[in-house]
Amino acid sequence: MQVLPTTAQVQIVQESFAKVTPIAEAAAAIFYQRLFELDPSLELLFRGDMKQQGRKLMAMIAAAVRGLDNLSLLVPAVENLGRRHVNYGVSIKDYDTVGAALLWTLGQGLGASFTPVVAEAWSVVYGVLANTMIAAVERGASADRSHASPAA
Ligand code: HEM
Repeated sequence: MQVLPTTAQVQIVQESFAKVTPIAEAAAAIFYQRLFELDPSLELLFRGDMKQQGRKLMAMIAAAVRGLDNLSLLVPAVENLGRRHVNYGVSIKDYDTVGAALLWTLGQGLGASFTPVVAEAWSVVYGVLANTMIAAVERGASADRSHASPAA
């Protein structure tokens, strides 16, 4: 079952992200460094310019953070993002690694203000995004199977 962020958690994520925005470029660099430390094989999936990739990632997180007040409007875009990630070679297990790298980065960027309450709020929000992306892919996969010829 999907755990949705509470109103307080949405506010916490929005306020803490505002503190990271001025250091977005550095935060993105820290994020990828940590991600490739956790799983060096993921580096092979990123083919573009990492600085630009970092900007896209932060822009997407910013859009998601802004959209948290009305999650239902965000869902179609996040589902499409999930489907595109299959083409990037991303597998379901990678979402945990990315989540861990994201929380670690926030901890580095926010320092003492990254309290357990803030960490939990981010963890719930990342979980909603990741689960929405993954669910769209899984639904797509089962729809594909329904069109397959019956197994012999
Ligand atoms: C909430 C989770 C995530 C968000 C918000 C996110 C966001 C994005 C965005 C905005 C892009 C730009 C391209 C596009 O819009 O299609 C992108 C590309 C990409 N993402 Fe993610 N992503 C997430 C999870 C992941 C995970 C789990 C991985 C696994 C390693 C991953 C790997 C990649 C790769 C490889 C690309 C393409 C890079 C390239 O073209 O070189 N992402 N992501």
